[in-house]
Amino acid sequence: MNLGIIGCGAIGTDVALAADKIEEIKKIYLFDIKSQASKKLCKKINKADIKKVKDFLPLVDVVFEGASQKAVHEYAEEILNSGKDLILMSVGSLIKESFRCKLKKIAKEKNCKIYIPSGAICGIDGILSAGIGGVDEVTLVTTKPPESFGKIYNTRTVLFKGIAKDAVKKFPANINVAASLSLAGKGFNKTNVQIVADPVVSRISHKILAHGKFGRLRVELENMPNPNNPGSSYMASLSAIATLKKIIDPIQIGV
Ligand SMILES: NC(=O)c1ccc[n+]([C@@H]2O[C@H](COP(=O)([O-])OP(=O)(O)OC[C@H]3O[C@@H](n4cnc5c(N)ncnc54)[C@H](O)[C@@H]3O)[C@@H](O)[C@H]2O)c1
Repeated sequence: MNLGIIGCGAIGTDVALAADKIEEIKKIYLFDIKSQASKKLCKKINKADIKKVKDFLPLVDVVFEGASQKAVHEYAEEILNSGKDLILMSVGSLIKESFRCKLKKIAKEKNCKIYIPSGAICGIDGILSAGIGGVDEVTLVTTKPPESFGKIYNTRTVLFKGIAKDAVKKFPANINVAASLSLAGKGFNKTNVQIVADPVVSRISHKILAHGKFGRLRVELENMPNPNNPGSSYMASLSAIATLKKIIDPIQIGV
């Protein structure tokens, strides 16, 4: 299998380093809008080469996007139209239903897949399964130290309480997590989001609460930052690598 990577930042670097050690991956093609980023990463990867997306597309089986929403809008259709699977990190790009449906239609026609790693949250598996029986309510509670908001809060302060659709507009830094959960569960209009500043915490945490016919779900993840980008959770990289391994592995664990 050959892999194309768009975006050689924190997550792209972690994925490329992991892919370099995966036997089934024979070649890794790197692209970044900043050529120094792809050049720097290429030096660390034995199987890597630098190519533009249009040039590596005929050579790869799977493309990993770890770049930006803009990159998804720029390349996703082309990738799927060429029949290649896409692993997509900038999931906030899928908020607009028309764009999401367009990609889904192409993927269906071309018999390829769009993989969305669970990213910086845990519990997506439970939400997917629970949804089959019906979920009454899903809530995401994101808690961050006050400095993440660039302000001082001396007490626990709920900054936002509403639906995901409004949360992603007011707090774009939270966009990927809210988008993944909404897509897995009840959609952007029916997923509740709370965003909290808490001087007691030192890490960003995401808690998912849900109940329905299945019972009650409560999952909380306290994230360590990515060593290469403090704004990115390390778990996001790990989930991207786990998704890549899942595509390769003949045994599929979890939904
Ligand atoms: N799903 C999740 O839970 C989750 C978690 C963290 C980050 N993300 C998203 O994943 C993406 C990557 O995150 P990161 O922490 O690695 O970011 P980063 O800033 O460390 O790296 C992004 C890299 O992509 C490159 N890039 C940007 N636009 C590009 C384009 N149009 N074409 C090619 N390269 C481009 C940049 O030059 C940079 O090198 C971001 O969109 C981020 O929002 C998702």
